Amino acid sequence: MAHELERQVVLVTGAGRGIGAAAARLAAARGAAVGVLDIDPDLARQTASDIRASGGKARELVVDVSDRTAFMAAARALRTEFGPLTGVVNDAIWIRYGPIEAVEEDVLDRMLSVGVKGTFWGVQALLAHRGEKPCAIVNLASPAADLGMPNAATYTAVKGAIVAVTRQMAVELGPQGIRVNAVAPGAVPTPGARAIVDEAGYAKRRQQTPLGRLGEEAEIAAAIAFLLGDDANFITGEVLHVDGGISVKSM
Ligand SMILES: NC(=O)c1ccc[n+]([C@@H]2O[C@H](COP(=O)([O-])OP(=O)(O)OC[C@H]3O[C@@H](n4cnc5c(N)ncnc54)[C@H](O)[C@@H]3O)[C@@H](O)[C@H]2O)c1
Repeated sequence: MAHELERQVVLVTGAGRGIGAAAARLAAARGAAVGVLDIDPDLARQTASDIRASGGKARELVVDVSDRTAFMAAARALRTEFGPLTGVVNDAIWIRYGPIEAVEEDVLDRMLSVGVKGTFWGVQALLAHRGEKPCAIVNLASPAADLGMPNAATYTAVKGAIVAVTRQMAVELGPQGIRVNAVAPGAVPTPGARAIVDEAGYAKRRQQTPLGRLGEEAEIAAAIAFLLGDDANFITGEVLHVDGGISVKSM
């Protein structure tokens, strides 16, 4: 397990903090060279330097995932340093919640640009900078793709699209040796999530989750690392729920 991702080159978006940072750290700990991509330069540098300080291989890539040209240039730089890409984790997100009647055009544009366009550019970056080896893509979905949540229509639009394209891309890219899966985390109190969910909201989520607690960044990272690795070699088009059972609870 310790060297499960040896010889892999994995680009992780949104890797400056939260689930993306945990996924980047774990992939590096398992032997992958990691591209730590984030729009925030300080966060990207911090994750990458933490990985290097622990003896891992990492390069910070300061990019807005919605900028296709910049994303491609970053993937090229990663390939130049560590070799052809073998994996991409599309994690970056920009979220605003609000009632449907108050959804602003610029907010919807930004959410779709980061969440959906960013995922397409991540996949294109892998296609352009992969080598001969089999590859794996992990997209970040959410139970929100399947369940209604008040004030979250823009978020469900992004995550519903991610689930749909994960399955579609698995079919289209499978013949090229590329597996495409998603991880759907339950409630994980990351810095980004804490900005939109208050303590009362977390109390409700704990109560609604069959396992009776919130998730941890490391638990989501473990599922991402599994889907990147050889133990998942015959898994594609799957949405792996890592959510304490919240998505299967009816009442
Ligand atoms: N935390 C949860 O409870 C939860 C639940 C379900 C799904 N998810 C999904 O997991 C993923 C990570 O969530 P998180 O809670 O860790 O988020 P977060 O907000 O804590 O971290 C997101 C990271 O993405 C970066 N980012 C934002 N816009 C970017 C852009 N345009 N280009 C590059 N980087 C950008 C941010 O700087 C930040 O470092 C998201 O896709 C989210 O939808 C999270």
